[in-house]
Amino acid sequence: MTQMALQGPIPVGIDDIAFATGSYRIDLASIAPRLGADPAKYYKGLGQEQMSVVGADEDPVTMAAAAAKKIVDRAGVEDIRTVIFATETGIDQSKAAAVYVHELIGLPSNVRSVEMKQACYSATAALQFASAVVARNPEEKVLVVASDIARYDMNSAAEPTQGAGSVAMLVTANPRILALDVPSGVFTKDIMDFWRPNYRSQALVEGKLSISAYIDAVQGAYEDYRSRGGVDFTEIDRFCYHQPFTKMAYKAHRMISANLGIELTPEKEQHDLAPSTAYNRLIGNSYTASAYFGLLSLLDTVPNLTGERIAIASYGSGSVAELLTGVVVEGYEAQLRSEENAAVLESRTELDDETYCAMQQVTHEDQGEYSNVEAGANLGNGPFSWKGVEGGKRIYAAR
Ligand code: COA
Repeated sequence: MTQMALQGPIPVGIDDIAFATGSYRIDLASIAPRLGADPAKYYKGLGQEQMSVVGADEDPVTMAAAAAKKIVDRAGVEDIRTVIFATETGIDQSKAAAVYVHELIGLPSNVRSVEMKQACYSATAALQFASAVVARNPEEKVLVVASDIARYDMNSAAEPTQGAGSVAMLVTANPRILALDVPSGVFTKDIMDFWRPNYRSQALVEGKLSISAYIDAVQGAYEDYRSRGGVDFTEIDRFCYHQPFTKMAYKAHRMISANLGIELTPEKEQHDLAPSTAYNRLIGNSYTASAYFGLLSLLDTVPNLTGERIAIASYGSGSVAELLTGVVVEGYEAQLRSEENAAVLESRTELDDETYCAMQQVTHEDQGEYSNVEAGANLGNGPFSWKGVEGGKRIYAAR
């Protein structure tokens, strides 16, 4: 249906959106024998087919810079006043990863750079922060970059729900892709469903608890959204949920629809939800970027979305959720990179289980004070590389 954005005096939203991911992939059928599982458990039970795997010289910064570069190559760096890096796999406890991205993509010095964290949720907080900056001064543009590598313990139940990716978005006035509605709904509850203490590279997770916590939080966020003037669930045309695995989006959508007394036929579910899961099914969990891979997947795979109201349902364990909506802007197709995006996913090098296991054993903490990552095997092929560590300082360069 054609709808009008519920906006303030000036439309604010997403003017451009681009992604990057690891240079490698593994099919979940390749890891299933080691984990003693039927591949159907992953393909059907979790709704996952492949996971992106980063090369030895790729990390959240190189992926974020690669995604952001596509945006500045098109739009230039002029008027970008802020870069926000949303991640839960940050590479430094103090320095914002945004500062490295700022340097790699050649932003001028008169830019503020900052990092935000709250599990898989912070990209949505970054989008709201960006929208507020732009609403205050419509001349300014904000670059939001969500980038993460999902790592769990090898051979654990969570291993098949790993992945890696980055989504960059340019937030502006009079956006050319998605005009964000002003109402949004938020929800916070202190819960230990997923966390990563400072001494660990891999997250700790209470998997089943995280599933019920996710649904409760998104339901709470919707109720808040509605009470703040958001539209009824039935007036939302498409849904892009956070997708730790794509089946999670279906679980949440079915449960919330049932709680609201909305009949969800298979056809309606296919229409409302399925197109937003195509990329995540091939990339795996990308934590902060995941819901926005959902948006990209929808925009790239369904034609004629102009005037449709899209929901982003964001969840970060721990836990915070937000439900926001926006309306697709006429002419948005000109801003897409659909063919290029499909080619990026197709061009990832396929790994066998042995090589993948060897690559997963190398953690960033193993690099110590001095290391030369570039000298190792299984490098990436993106535009930027993490060359190694010198005196505890991470070194990045254009490839
Ligand atoms: N064919 C088809 N489906 C199968 C199957 C088979 N051979 N074997 C199992 N399944 C189904 C199960 O029925 C289940 O589906 P359901 O949830 O719809 O009932 C699904 O596959 C998963 O099986 P389950 O035994 O519950 O999985 P698990 O104990 O291995 O753990 C997670 C799954 C998601 C809990 C685990 O991967 C995890 O902890 N991941 C990280 C946390 C996470 O992503 N949380 C999400 C919220 S943020």
